[in-house]
Amino acid sequence: MPQNIIIVTGLMILLSTGSVFGATEHFIQAEPESIGRSLTISVSKGNCIACHSIPAEKKIVSLANIGPPLIGIKQRFPLRTNLTKQIWDPTQANPNTIMPPFGKHKILTELEIKFIVDYLYTL
Ligand code: HEC
Repeated sequence: MPQNIIIVTGLMILLSTGSVFGATEHFIQAEPESIGRSLTISVSKGNCIACHSIPAEKKIVSLANIGPPLIGIKQRFPLRTNLTKQIWDPTQANPNTIMPPFGKHKILTELEIKFIVDYLYTL
């Protein structure tokens, strides 16, 4: 009997560590752009689509038009630093903007903003 319990416990440990490794691997393999995409649409993170539509994304339905559509980003922000600044603290470009200062107010980390910038450059 105790042997059975040991075997079952061992199996459970194996299964659980297996899935932990699986999850880690999945995270490491995820492209920066796809992490950025999740952060952009996540209600608890960027929630950018509350104000912006993303016309290139057929699966993301946003009718928001408070901010300009996120499109042609490379043409509009040839410099990565300018796009990063716009997300870090949009009040620098427009003190009266209603877009939240995501970096300055610690809504998003520097790394999260980097991933979002990677994603926006695919649009
Ligand atoms: C509460 C509404 C709101 C949210 C949420 C918001 N924005 Fe904005 N955004 C705006 C508005 C309004 C503008 C127009 C510029 C201004 O107000 O100065 C803007 C402008 C921009 C611009 C500049 C566009 C251009 O072509 O000039 C970018 C890029 C941008 N937002 C990205 C984002 C990203 C990425 C997020 C999410 C992390 C986000 N925004 C979340 C309202 C918002």
